[in-house]
Amino acid sequence: MAKKRVIVSERISEEGLNLLRSELEVDFRDGISRQELLEVIDQYDALIVRSVTKVNEELISRGKNLRFVGRAGNGVDNIDVDVCTRYGVVVANTPDSNTISAAEQTISLLLSSVRNTAWANTTLKGGTWDRKPFRGMELFEKTVGIVGLGRIGSMVATRLKSFNMKVLAYDPYISDERFERFGTEKVNSLEELVKNVDIITVHTPRNEETMHMIDEKILDMAKDGVRVVNCARGGIIKEEALVQALESGKVASAGLDVFEKEPATQNPLFEFNNVVVTPHLGADTYEAQKRVGENIAEQAIKALNGDIVPNVVNLPTMLSEELDYLKPYITLAEKMGKFYYQIEKTPVNRVEITYSGPISKNETEMLTIALLKGILEPVMWEKVNFVNARLMAEERGIKIFEQKEEQSPKRYKNLITIKLVNSNQELEIAGTLSRARSPLLVEINGYETESALEGYVILAENEDRPRVIGPFATALGDVGVNIASMRVARQTKGETAIMLINVDNKVEEEVLDKVSKSDGIKRAKLLKF
Ligand code: NAD
Ligand code: MLT
Repeated sequence: MAKKRVIVSERISEEGLNLLRSELEVDFRDGISRQELLEVIDQYDALIVRSVTKVNEELISRGKNLRFVGRAGNGVDNIDVDVCTRYGVVVANTPDSNTISAAEQTISLLLSSVRNTAWANTTLKGGTWDRKPFRGMELFEKTVGIVGLGRIGSMVATRLKSFNMKVLAYDPYISDERFERFGTEKVNSLEELVKNVDIITVHTPRNEETMHMIDEKILDMAKDGVRVVNCARGGIIKEEALVQALESGKVASAGLDVFEKEPATQNPLFEFNNVVVTPHLGADTYEAQKRVGENIAEQAIKALNGDIVPNVVNLPTMLSEELDYLKPYITLAEKMGKFYYQIEKTPVNRVEITYSGPISKNETEMLTIALLKGILEPVMWEKVNFVNARLMAEERGIKIFEQKEEQSPKRYKNLITIKLVNSNQELEIAGTLSRARSPLLVEINGYETESALEGYVILAENEDRPRVIGPFATALGDVGVNIASMRVARQTKGETAIMLINVDNKVEEEVLDKVSKSDGIKRAKLLKF
């Protein structure tokens, strides 16, 4: 089979490229022009970018075979994630791989700006030995204000604590416990933060809310001679406002790794001696780039092999232990979803899902998505996958209801029950995992069973009386069908019963129709899981 193809449009580590090459056909096209990328993107199954390539609808809509966009790094502000979701393209990043490097770069920018290191370096190399202009400030017993106490912000906090600094933090989206864990004092507003600190360092994502969040008004409220650092994203500190504040002396120094427009070769901020700048080097260490490259390569390979990808941005986030625990349930949910259109021809309008038992304590969104994928994938022409299944279901007007109960109503510890409702009727099925942790159907419309949802299964309705099951099994044998296992279930003695028969091979429809003429068989259908 031909290898899947990936294009890497920006520089990633050799280790990452080698890992990609071990499984995929790789085109490493660092710096490829926009026009050329647009022209060739339809030849690839995956695209790997850093922060420069703009991944938007113009590009994604041309990537007819594209299944994966990998961001070798953290911020995904150069990727239109909603568009990727709509086109069923998985977007993944490497959020933890460069965190330490970005935190260390923040400290480096802070120290070199408050001690005028870069300016002194240039002056001395220019042949002037002069110490007067470069007198700096100690960090000892100063107060720093961290905006955004996520992965990097929290690492910056713990590192600055070791300088004996007081650390205040503003982050409206985290628990109080997190402020305590990193030895920070919580403040409730940005205004309150800037009024009380000697240094402001920002560590939020760049989005509508955070773009220009530190503007003229906020800088005005800050202490005179405040120091600022931005090693997150250009624009979180408004550049125009920063220029004015540096000119007026309100801001005494700045350390900047990122800019509103990148690549930045000309910027008014470059004119100030007390501003230290680096060209977006936060993640540029050997260690981080090795981790980032290998991590994104692993995820690209997983995505193209149809495996679950750990850091998907357009899917719910889960810890790897939780994902390991839920994986077999994800398979179960998807197979339960596949049931519907194999026995019904009327569009489903409503899906009611109940998660019962300990499983309900987990992040169950992935299970719901898997179920919807199972329902829709067999009947949709458009690509349906984990990324867009919920969106596709909602666009088709399917109403989705979920509930959780701590105790399972049946003898199975964990149970997933789904009710699929269409304009005429309902189908209710329940499933769990077998001892071997494989998918098991335990109920179908009130009939109790224990049937493996694996391979080919004949679902038959029969009269509940003697000399029906045996002759039907014999008739199957006569046409060369081997029965792997068989379950019979009834609700009321003497009425309709059902059989779920796991068979080893496919049974052609005409053959099954013929065999189903067997006495007492009402109907039979071959299902595939
Ligand atoms: P993260 O998601 O772990 O943390 C971001 C934090 O910001 C979260 O705790 C969130 O609650 C908080 N936040 C969001 N909106 C906020 C708001 N309006 N006010 C206050 N807090 C808010 O992200 P991270 O991994 O720590 O990355 C932080 C930033 O650093 C991102 O912008 C990322 O792109 C950037 N980054 C830059 C480099 C570099 O090379 N310079 C490297 C890695 C990451
Ligand atoms: C990131 O978001 O990870 C950084 O911007 C680093 C990078 O892409 O080099």
